[in-house]
Amino acid sequence: MKKAYVILIGIFLLTALGIFGLPLFKSQQFHGSVLQEPKLAAEIVLRSAAGPVRLSDYRGRIALLYFGYTSCPDICPASLANLKLALGNLSPEESAQVQVIFVSVDPGRDTPEKLGQYIRLFDDGFIGATGTRDEIDLITSAFNVYYKINPPESNNNDYTVDHSGFITVIDRDGYVIMSWPHGTPPADMSADLRYLLKNGMPISAQILAGPTYTPVVCAVTLAPAHVQGGEWLYQHHCAQCHGADLAGNSAWQTELVDGSHLPPPLNGDGKAWQYSEQDLIRIIKEGRNLEKPIHMPAFKNTLADWEISFVLTYLKSNWDINQRNYQHGFMTLTPQATPTLSATPSPTVTGTLLP
Ligand code: HEC
Repeated sequence: MKKAYVILIGIFLLTALGIFGLPLFKSQQFHGSVLQEPKLAAEIVLRSAAGPVRLSDYRGRIALLYFGYTSCPDICPASLANLKLALGNLSPEESAQVQVIFVSVDPGRDTPEKLGQYIRLFDDGFIGATGTRDEIDLITSAFNVYYKINPPESNNNDYTVDHSGFITVIDRDGYVIMSWPHGTPPADMSADLRYLLKNGMPISAQILAGPTYTPVVCAVTLAPAHVQGGEWLYQHHCAQCHGADLAGNSAWQTELVDGSHLPPPLNGDGKAWQYSEQDLIRIIKEGRNLEKPIHMPAFKNTLADWEISFVLTYLKSNWDINQRNYQHGFMTLTPQATPTLSATPSPTVTGTLLP
């Protein structure tokens, strides 16, 4: 009997995967190295021929950062020409939403004016910018860019500069999301750009990076675009019960005759943040709180997996940083040493950050 049950569930899962699995796993294959946790880009304030250049001025567009110098014999011209081709593959509407910024690490020879003339050889829309040596050192270290000015060759004052050749991709919200290695073909960059312009960064690379976190103490980063998308989904599918402000029903702690409860808060006042990611997904998909039936619809046929992830991202944006870190497994829970009779049933997180 039990065995038949297991086989049935197996068949069901396989069918479900067969039917729904395809779109689920057909996620975009990016052509660069994708950051597991997108990182807010450091602010750049540099000078171009047209005036100051601030990276934050390009929020709303995808910014592509490339470091080099105008006397660069081959790598820089090739990369800039490839960027020109990559943008050329996009529609004018799409390419208008992408900003290429070329930062010279050679301010000794590259004045903003010289950079301006140089960059126009590739595209009028590209920006060439530079700063003082100190500013460049700050910026290159913020973006993990390496460079080294070599000593002049014996007979003349010409010198070369070694530098990283990758291109950093910053999304519309100002997050560094990936980098393309030197030599990435233009068509591959166009494909990534087109996808990013249409969909933003897919959840798979970020939230679902899941338990394979690096052993570094860090906070869970929530992509703003996913929070926004999740809020919309929440308001349409969940708010009627859990409240537009996620506060739940004020009598949520009172047990009803069938052992269930009224809709609980999903913000940090409730205990949703104490469930694992898997359990939260299961509750939402099955409309069951683990083994306990609850008066909530199952969303498995209403919401796609990525939509559920977006809703969860939105819920997380309403939890404090400790709750988020705890839920993600970055932090352990230390119950209060002397429990007091308080109105809030949840133990306090007194931050033990895992190494
Ligand atoms: C028809 C009302 C209703 C809708 C719509 C609804 N829920 Fe619920 N939800 C409930 C009830 C009732 C409970 C649990 C009460 C209990 O424990 O018996 C619950 C429990 C939960 C829990 C477990 C929280 C905890 O603290 O145990 C989560 C998470 C949750 N809902 C998320 C969602 C999300 C996300 C949506 C929208 C996609 C949603 N719910 C839509 C009624 C609803």
